Amino acid sequence: MFLEAGTDMDNDNMQVPDLDGLDLQLRPPCTIFTKNKIKSEEKEMRNYLFSENMKMADLILIKPSIILLLPRFNIPLGFGDKSVKDLCMAHGISSGLFLMICNIYSFDNYVPSQDVVNSIDMSMLDCYLEKSHRYYLDQRLPHIANHISRIAGEMNNRAGEILKCFFEEYNNEVIAHFRYEEQNVFPHLKRLLSGEVADDYSITAYLPSHTNIEDKLDDLTQIMFKYLPEGVKTYETIGAVFDILQLSEDLKKHSLIEEKVLIPFVEHLEKIRGK
Ligand SMILES: [Fe+2]
Ligand SMILES: [Fe+2]
Repeated sequence: MFLEAGTDMDNDNMQVPDLDGLDLQLRPPCTIFTKNKIKSEEKEMRNYLFSENMKMADLILIKPSIILLLPRFNIPLGFGDKSVKDLCMAHGISSGLFLMICNIYSFDNYVPSQDVVNSIDMSMLDCYLEKSHRYYLDQRLPHIANHISRIAGEMNNRAGEILKCFFEEYNNEVIAHFRYEEQNVFPHLKRLLSGEVADDYSITAYLPSHTNIEDKLDDLTQIMFKYLPEGVKTYETIGAVFDILQLSEDLKKHSLIEEKVLIPFVEHLEKIRGK
């Protein structure tokens, strides 16, 4: 007996086969369940993803953090009742790319398939990622640094200095991480998009060196939860923790876009350019 992947195993009335004495070639049931489960989850997911005919204002009402994506696509507020499609068209943006990123930010289980990635106009992907870097470096990190500095000012000298040093080291790590991407990965994508083939860089160098820049932020929140001395202003620390958690969530999605969209797309371009 050999059960093919794709056999309908979701049926409640399904007879569970007697496993004794079965051919050793029997595929592990977990493989079959997993494949069917993934397929039905993908189908289900497609039903509730955002679509380009939805009003932009509705998208933001459903997932308020989408508002943070607008400046990264140069979309100003004041868009009335325009749909995502009309608004993207008015600003010369690929609605496919915009929607895919909105969906990644809004649905935790959503990871676009290679087919979806290949079918989208990605000419603005590097621009989007660079603008995200600017937002983290120029807006969020200095804002959190100010919180940390005020909190450190209320602690004893040594503990305050340790906290400030921890954050400064983290900040430098993020700067180096972004610099590598902006000097190597994004220009490589741009060259491939413009049809160039000759290029010393290969995307295979990127993934192993793509460090996780969110984990240290989680460590920072743990320090705040567990080791802050009494007497430090509560609302200052709560404000700082909120900002750190929000940045951490944003960075997780940013990394996911780099690993599940940017890398597969560049691999695809490298292949068709014959690199
Ligand atoms: Fe990045
Ligand atoms: Fe990154």
